[in-house]
Amino acid sequence: MKLMVVGGGGREHAIIKKLKENPTVETIYALPGNGGMTDDCTPVAIMATDIDAIVAFAVEQKIDYAVVAPDDPLVLGCVDALEEKGISCFGPRANAAIIEGSKVFSKNLMKKYGIPTAKYEVFSDLDAALGYLETAPLPTVIKADGLALGKGVIIAQTKQDAQDAVIAMMEQKKFGKSGENVVIEEFLEGPEVSVLAFTDGDCVKPMISSMDHKRAFDDDRGLNTGGMGTIAPNPYYIKDVADRCMREIFLPTIEAMKAEGRPFKGCLYFGLMITKDGPKVIEYNCRFGDPETQVVLPLLKSDLLTIMQATTNGTLRDTDVAFSDKAACCVIMASKGYPLSYEKGFELTIPDAIKENVYVAGAVLKDGKLLTNGGRVLGATATADTLKSAIQKAYAMVETIHFDNAFYRRDIGKRALQAKEG
Ligand code: AMP
Ligand code: GLY
Repeated sequence: MKLMVVGGGGREHAIIKKLKENPTVETIYALPGNGGMTDDCTPVAIMATDIDAIVAFAVEQKIDYAVVAPDDPLVLGCVDALEEKGISCFGPRANAAIIEGSKVFSKNLMKKYGIPTAKYEVFSDLDAALGYLETAPLPTVIKADGLALGKGVIIAQTKQDAQDAVIAMMEQKKFGKSGENVVIEEFLEGPEVSVLAFTDGDCVKPMISSMDHKRAFDDDRGLNTGGMGTIAPNPYYIKDVADRCMREIFLPTIEAMKAEGRPFKGCLYFGLMITKDGPKVIEYNCRFGDPETQVVLPLLKSDLLTIMQATTNGTLRDTDVAFSDKAACCVIMASKGYPLSYEKGFELTIPDAIKENVYVAGAVLKDGKLLTNGGRVLGATATADTLKSAIQKAYAMVETIHFDNAFYRRDIGKRALQAKEG
């Protein structure tokens, strides 16, 4: 089979490595992919948001199956456009990807169908938002409606910070159209859990749970990033919580999307907070998480391509989705300065012995040399019988990878280990 994966980061590299395990797979193209993936696929210089070029490439190459991984092409209707040309795809259509594309949509969906989430108000008028903030409880959470590269959420500790955030979004248009409408919501407390789930629009099969580490520095200090590391499974996601999530969140969400005439097919990401009143939805993403995928897929025992095709064909109920009992840890190596400004173009060396466990996010091949080409450069993932040894193995790998100005958090998995050990 000839496959195509839209996207170019560490998440896509993890998807590609797993797809390759299926013996019927002959070729995988990555659009655009990156120079660090050439052992596993063929990168093609087409941007993930250039829907016309993606469709033209798929038709010309007679692609048998396409995986659309990032949020923006999904929200832009990449799956709809490919399906119109008869290309079978993994991922939701635009009318379902809106569950991530609009926070106003997802909050209203949860309210309508009684899915537990933070209490909220929606504003399209600046003065109304400012008026509401006069008496809103603190801290308060301000969210831009649309996609904002993961930066559209502000947790304001003071009234002034909250007002500044609303003005930046609604008046100064810091996030463009994404901030025309804002959601102001209740601040929730508790451990966070990420659960990715396969769904064919009817049946939902959750994957193993995971924990992201979003802040740039150790002990959750510094700016929010795209994710500095992950572990799986998440120790806070005990059986009782998982059962409640299935009953109160996962199934009701799939049913709600179906009832709205927007059946969701693909991977639905539940960002959850385990509050003292039970699990609540912080956010939905219409896709695999990054870097959650880099710990979840290495633990998947079943065949990924078979599962993906089952989500497309509506046969997920009859398809095995099994995970190993092991634990995994992924440590992200970034360039100093990330998530603000950073330098690129440093030579990157990854020992051959660990290449199978390294997912490259930002690199380019130049004159036969691999050079860094992004803020987050790569993720090294180890699996082991215990979380503790997965963490040790991942850090041992990181020690053997080199590029100038590299930085990484030293405490990925520390909180999870403490939770496990009580
Ligand atoms: P998001 O971009 O939606 O993933 O939000 C980024 C982060 O903001 C989440 O991972 C949470 O840590 C935090 N967050 C979002 N909404 C809330 C909330 N209502 N209460 C507390 N923290 C929140
Ligand atoms: N790791 C969070 C996300 O993929 O949005």
